[in-house]
Amino acid sequence: MGEKSILTVELSEVIGTINPNIYGHFSEHLGRCIYPGIWVGLDSKMPNVQGVRKDLVEALKRVNPPVIRWPGGCFADEYHWKDGIGLIDQRPRRPNISWGGDDSNEFGTDEFMRFCKNIGSEPYVCLNVGSGSPEEASSWLEYCNYAGNSSYSRLRAENGHPQPYGVKYWGVGNENWGCGGSFDPVYYAWEYRRFATYLRRSDPSVQLIACGHTSRDWNLRFMEAMRDHLRLMDHLSIHYYFSGRRNPFGGDVKFTDDEYLNLLFDVQNLEYQIQQAIDIVDFFSERTKNIGIVVDEWGTWHPQATREAGLYQQNTLRDAILAAVVLNLFNRYSTKVVMANIAQTVNVLQSLCLTEGEKTILTPTYHVFDLYKHHMGNDALKVDVKSPIVREAPPVVRDTGAVPPARKPVPLKALDASASRSKDGRSLVITLVNQSLDEDLETEIHLIGEKEVEKGELAILEAGDVRDHNDFDLPDKVIPIDEPVKMKGKILNYVAPKHSVNRFILILK
Ligand code: AHR
Repeated sequence: MGEKSILTVELSEVIGTINPNIYGHFSEHLGRCIYPGIWVGLDSKMPNVQGVRKDLVEALKRVNPPVIRWPGGCFADEYHWKDGIGLIDQRPRRPNISWGGDDSNEFGTDEFMRFCKNIGSEPYVCLNVGSGSPEEASSWLEYCNYAGNSSYSRLRAENGHPQPYGVKYWGVGNENWGCGGSFDPVYYAWEYRRFATYLRRSDPSVQLIACGHTSRDWNLRFMEAMRDHLRLMDHLSIHYYFSGRRNPFGGDVKFTDDEYLNLLFDVQNLEYQIQQAIDIVDFFSERTKNIGIVVDEWGTWHPQATREAGLYQQNTLRDAILAAVVLNLFNRYSTKVVMANIAQTVNVLQSLCLTEGEKTILTPTYHVFDLYKHHMGNDALKVDVKSPIVREAPPVVRDTGAVPPARKPVPLKALDASASRSKDGRSLVITLVNQSLDEDLETEIHLIGEKEVEKGELAILEAGDVRDHNDFDLPDKVIPIDEPVKMKGKILNYVAPKHSVNRFILILK
């Protein structure tokens, strides 16, 4: 073991409440995500809860998913919601022009709402701006939320749902700079204003999410065009993929030690994109309105996840470590990052679950969400980390055609962490990641404040190799193990195993 690491947790320095929605999910009509990852149909022989795989419903319920974004992604801007309501066998089949194949429209609005209800999530609907209209968007909102006696609310009742769904989150288009219509930012702002005007008037209680970009130029020009219309927007969305298609990150299960570190180094770029988006929304709103950042697509995108493969990829301990570090980052930005949605729930990109026939397995990333769920709704605390450096400089990015953002990279430390305190102040959640490939980390956790630890529990996610993953033959190769916590007091000594995710729940006195 080398140099000692020190994690300092300031028990009374609260950054802000951790919005549960940063533990959100995203499910798109893409590859095998919806069909048959989620929906197997009401008449399926597979065990199901109102058409949705039973084992998936049970697995998702355990991680308390706060919010699910649907129906896309790129698919959102080609989706016409009226195709997906009414009698299932009478719904039109449509080509999925974004991702290939046909869509049966069996999984539509009412099925999505039921799925969310069954797993205890809030629905987040992404509207069609690219090929849709304000009328289509407002009528969808009316179908979902209107409590009065209109033809759309009556239609909802005829389809079995007299009570409004009360959908709170509405995205006004997806990646409208690309697959969502190839708009420029000013034109998108005009469209946004038109759509949002009617959405707001139809239901003033909804939260509207505008499409942002990881390009500074898009966000600047969009926000400038929105300057006098800020009442129409609540949040700005950005997407961030850790893409091994262009970057030297290796494959999903085959990568070198160097490529492992390259991937983790890239979390700094996500942080930089978040900071940049925050600066821009704060500048244009002059802080008169707290416009939140919604990272409504994030995760690893390995080269195996091609369009032909339905963006399917395996998911190793490396993906789990990346997820843990990203969730620590979101916890630390809890005042401004108000929602995040990992892409995607099942069988697509950095999935929580993978399916094959009747079988469903849980990926290492699933287990991170299970460990981290205890942070939701807590107060994020200020932490400081001193730890050995595992990588000095960022990887050289292959030519992407994009101008690299001007920024100063910071050497990557072995230890990464976040901490939160329950609202009643009685318990503390610490999530600590050792990113080192070869060193267990001797760590001192210093609690600064009045209270000290009385007792606690610990769960560790580790494996012999960072390339280890769960598959249909060995579904439990990478699972967390519980360990007793013997530590008490204000300074806790702990050895974090190499390449591991560690979650403490500590009772304070
Ligand atoms: O998640 C896959 C795709 O990635 C989404 O459809 C799109 O929004 C993004 O480019």
